[in-house]
Amino acid sequence: MDYLVVRGSKPLKGQISVSGSKNSTLPIMAASLLCSGEVVLTGVPDLEDIKVMAQALEILGAKVKREKDVLIIDGSTVNKIELPEEISRKMRASNLVMGALLSRFHHARVAYPGGCAIGTRPMDLHLKGFQSMGFTIKEEFGFMEGLGSSLGSQEILLDFPSVGATENLMMAAVLLPGTTILRNAAREPEIVDLQNFLNRMGAKIRGAGLDTIRIEGVSRLGSVEHAVIPDRIEAGTFMVAAAISRGEVFIENVVLEHVQPVVSKLREIGAEVLTYNSGIKVVGGGRLRPADIKTMPYPGFPTDMQPQIMALLSSIVGTSVLVETIFENRFMHVQELRRMGADIKVEGRVAIIKGKNRLEGASVEATDLRAGAALILAGLFADGETHINRIDHIDRGYDKIHVKLQSIGADITRGPRT
Ligand code: UD1
Repeated sequence: MDYLVVRGSKPLKGQISVSGSKNSTLPIMAASLLCSGEVVLTGVPDLEDIKVMAQALEILGAKVKREKDVLIIDGSTVNKIELPEEISRKMRASNLVMGALLSRFHHARVAYPGGCAIGTRPMDLHLKGFQSMGFTIKEEFGFMEGLGSSLGSQEILLDFPSVGATENLMMAAVLLPGTTILRNAAREPEIVDLQNFLNRMGAKIRGAGLDTIRIEGVSRLGSVEHAVIPDRIEAGTFMVAAAISRGEVFIENVVLEHVQPVVSKLREIGAEVLTYNSGIKVVGGGRLRPADIKTMPYPGFPTDMQPQIMALLSSIVGTSVLVETIFENRFMHVQELRRMGADIKVEGRVAIIKGKNRLEGASVEATDLRAGAALILAGLFADGETHINRIDHIDRGYDKIHVKLQSIGADITRGPRT
């Protein structure tokens, strides 16, 4: 398996461009199953997770073609309603095909995605929502199965604004008769992108981005071309790269509103953040201060930026406190950062970081996607060489991150493990 070597202590300088959003592309690919015509997606990042979703769609009978950053999905040939374990297990987001299949065929059988490193990540909110819509749900032999009979107008209150459950339920409601109302829905920008995509195909959805979403059922969806939004987590990662390396980086292809929670915290920490129509400049050269940060559903501080901001706080002298409220086990990067000399204590969902003006390169392991990004960032600050293993996790969600960072002066190389 490949590895990355980062040699740090050098301010990054230059311009870097953000790819399309992974977390927007995945549900939109699943939603393509609703369409009996052709879907053309542009700005699609080149990532392992996207390949896994493409495989899932193909297993269900769709035709998927990729040309550079354009993905063409033909849903007219979809003829299966079952997603087997081999593919479900590879990626939690594969469960997103369930809503689309239920809506189109009133029947879906999807192998349980299981837990994952950052938490148990159950499916109860998805399944309860499908049930409220009138689907009969069975959970047996490792599969979640839904079957529809008397489906119609429904009002669903989510116990928690789950991103995946909101997306799955929106997709399930699109082709059902009557109006479905989702309350306490997730408000993430990716939900708005999914709504825009579905509406372009002929769906009647409003309210995405707010906590109540109304879906008026339609009888069919047609072909569409859609550009996915920029990846706000990749943008946030580059913003932290500028700050932690005490550099000056201009980040283009970013929607300012989507990264506002990260911008606010970086300003509180003392980084200079300048906003332009064409992007954001982050200057990390001044005196940086510790901060207290709590992850929250959007528009709060994103859990997907928690490991990266922890790397930054580890590089700032003083005590910072990070509270993780979304996932119960998302501190696995702590032990790897400690190998690099970071002083971090964890009590339940709270991490207390005593930042230092020096970290040391070490051999570390990416325990999950964003943990891997945090280690790259820590490596940019550390003295000496940081050797990062298990970068398959990083490949799931960052499109050629080492090449992009090299272009702004990072000393980072990728090597194949022999
Ligand atoms: C999505 C993102 C992921 C991000 C997360 C939170 C994608 C592909 N992934 O994941 O990068 O970290 O949002 O912003 O978009 N939960 C339940 N029952 C459920 C569903 C969720 O208890 O049925 C819990 C989860 O265990 C977790 C919390 O709700 O603790 C948030 O999960 P959710 O918002 O559903 O995250 P995902 O959609 O899986």
